[in-house]
Amino acid sequence: MREMAIKLVLFCLCFWRLDDVFGQETKLMKPGDSVTLNSGLTEMKDDDQIQWMFRSGKENALIAEINVRADSMTVYEDVLDGRFRNRLKLNNQTGSLTITNSRNEHTGLYELLTKSVMKRFFLSIIDEISMKEGDSVTLNSDLTEMKDDNVIQWRFGNENTLIAEINKQTDSMTVYDDVLDGRFRNRLKLNNQTGSLTITNTTTEHAGAYELDINNEKKRFLLAVYDEISVKEGDSLTINSGRTEITTGEMFFWLYMNEITFIAGINPWVNNITVYDDVLDGRFRDRLKLDYQTGSLTITNITTQHAGRYVFLTERGPIIRLLEALSVSVYGE
Ligand SMILES: *[C@@H]1O[C@H](CO)[C@@H](O)[C@H](O)[C@H]1NC(C)=O
Ligand SMILES: *[C@@H]1O[C@H](CO)[C@@H](O)[C@H](O)[C@H]1NC(C)=O
Ligand SMILES: *[C@@H]1O[C@H](CO)[C@@H](O)[C@H](O)[C@H]1NC(C)=O
Ligand SMILES: *[C@@H]1O[C@H](CO)[C@@H](O)[C@H](O)[C@H]1NC(C)=O
Ligand SMILES: *[C@@H]1O[C@H](CO)[C@@H](O)[C@H](O)[C@H]1NC(C)=O
Repeated sequence: MREMAIKLVLFCLCFWRLDDVFGQETKLMKPGDSVTLNSGLTEMKDDDQIQWMFRSGKENALIAEINVRADSMTVYEDVLDGRFRNRLKLNNQTGSLTITNSRNEHTGLYELLTKSVMKRFFLSIIDEISMKEGDSVTLNSDLTEMKDDNVIQWRFGNENTLIAEINKQTDSMTVYDDVLDGRFRNRLKLNNQTGSLTITNTTTEHAGAYELDINNEKKRFLLAVYDEISVKEGDSLTINSGRTEITTGEMFFWLYMNEITFIAGINPWVNNITVYDDVLDGRFRDRLKLDYQTGSLTITNITTQHAGRYVFLTERGPIIRLLEALSVSVYGE
């Protein structure tokens, strides 16, 4: 069963890095969530010095530090315009760092440095909102104001078509709403203070990937339309990937959006296919099968615990595409 629409979703995979799922530890979370980045240390030695760095695009800052010999522990909350203020907790026994009440701007790479250990975590905040066809949606730039040299561009779709632009240098603001057969005509509103973009009266034609480029720093948003399907408890469900083959040069991910969790990934470069069936207390254990040829996902012996929203994403360089979005409901025998 394929239903007309009608749930659109927005999320931000700002500065998403691909190798992370297969190498470093990637944490996906919702805005407002807390996360602890485990140092892996059980105790500190007398000569330990622990530093936590944050990196995102061109930004780079020391955010926390422990120096055991000097018996000091410091959290640098004022860096980067105070974006970590009242949000960092450093464990004085292990050096683990907790980030509370996260927001989009905490997306990035966190690096733990000690004399002997270097550990990296990639945090991605996924902000999912639900909406209906006809609703308006605002894609937030997260800027409070624009600087004089700001050039802000919004692009849409597989061809990365320019749809709106603000150039502070020339003091111009332009909406290109005739592109793509006019699907955005009279629907785009650009905020002249923040550069945020509002799309009014949305239709399924506006689903896809949006890219915000601020002085060459990129952020991404996806608007997804979920197809809907109803499955009987105990049955198997195969979710098509939307691809006939998995090509190299791209990474592929299945996410369970209800709890924002990776459940499977394919890295064709190293022939790696991974099913994360230990997540969510083993809810998917021994129930997931991934087809290496197509990337299609099969969930066997489905229960009501598996109801929810599934998406299949691919990333090639900076381009993210949504290949499949399916909302699954499960009914009893
Ligand atoms: C794929 O990568 C994961 C995570 O790095 C690793 O645990 C797994 O052993 C790899 N699988 C194969 C088949 O190489
Ligand atoms: C470590 O932190 C705990 C809890 O915040 C506190 O009770 C304890 O005194 C601290 N220990 C040291 C050595 O600072
Ligand atoms: C910004 O937009 C507001 C509301 O649309 C308008 O009143 C204001 O004049 C604009 N400011 C500039 C500098 O264009
Ligand atoms: C919204 O778009 C539909 C067609 O896509 C159009 O028929 C309708 O008039 C629009 N509504 C508003 C309030 O602009
Ligand atoms: C299906 O799942 C249920 C509940 O988790 C379990 O009791 C049952 O044994 C499973 N059936 C098969 C064929 O694996």
